[in-house]
Amino acid sequence: MPLRAMSIADAVMAAELTAASPGAAHWSAEAYADLLRSHDSAQVNGFGLVATADAPGGELLGFICARVVVGEAEILNLAVSGAARRGGIGGALVAAAVARAFALGAERAFLEVRQSNAAARGLYQKLGFAAQGIRRGYYSNPAEDALILALTKPPA
Ligand SMILES: CC(C)(COP(=O)(O)OP(=O)(O)OC[C@H]1O[C@@H](n2cnc3c(N)ncnc32)[C@H](O)[C@@H]1OP(=O)(O)O)[C@@H](O)C(=O)NCCC(=O)NCCS
Repeated sequence: MPLRAMSIADAVMAAELTAASPGAAHWSAEAYADLLRSHDSAQVNGFGLVATADAPGGELLGFICARVVVGEAEILNLAVSGAARRGGIGGALVAAAVARAFALGAERAFLEVRQSNAAARGLYQKLGFAAQGIRRGYYSNPAEDALILALTKPPA
């Protein structure tokens, strides 16, 4: 499926997709727009990638957004639309975002995930992310601890 850079025009659809995805962070469209604008220095690079249906003007099937700050990347949000799950889109988005972050200078990629989110944990584990610790009470609605996962850039 095609992947492309996320644009500010995708922000509303990304917000709608996460509103329907309990495991994702529920950001406003403006929060995505702010992230995508945060790439104006050598130290901070916010970016997003979207997966679309394989047709001109295809609908957004999933997205990921991330930020590289001084050599470390953080995966900030990820969602695939319900009907498109288990088709490899989430894995392709994470792999592409990690590759982009490493190309932008990150040495490690981090993320937080709800302990109960078996789908996302399975995905990250498959891609080589390893547990680094727990942030107690990190999530609300419902309250839950976060697992911190990380992936180190492989040697060249
Ligand atoms: C997590 C999510 C992005 C996965 O997207 P996806 O396109 O379905 O993922 P993929 O098809 O690439 O799956 C890759 C691997 O992840 C794991 N996985 C995905 N869904 C799973 C599920 N429901 N249960 C267990 N493992 C699962 C599997 O290891 C899978 O590999 P396999 O299909 O060979 O078994 C999707 O379920 C989603 O949008 N969830 C709601 C939002 C969310 O939780 N975001 C993560 C925030 S940290």
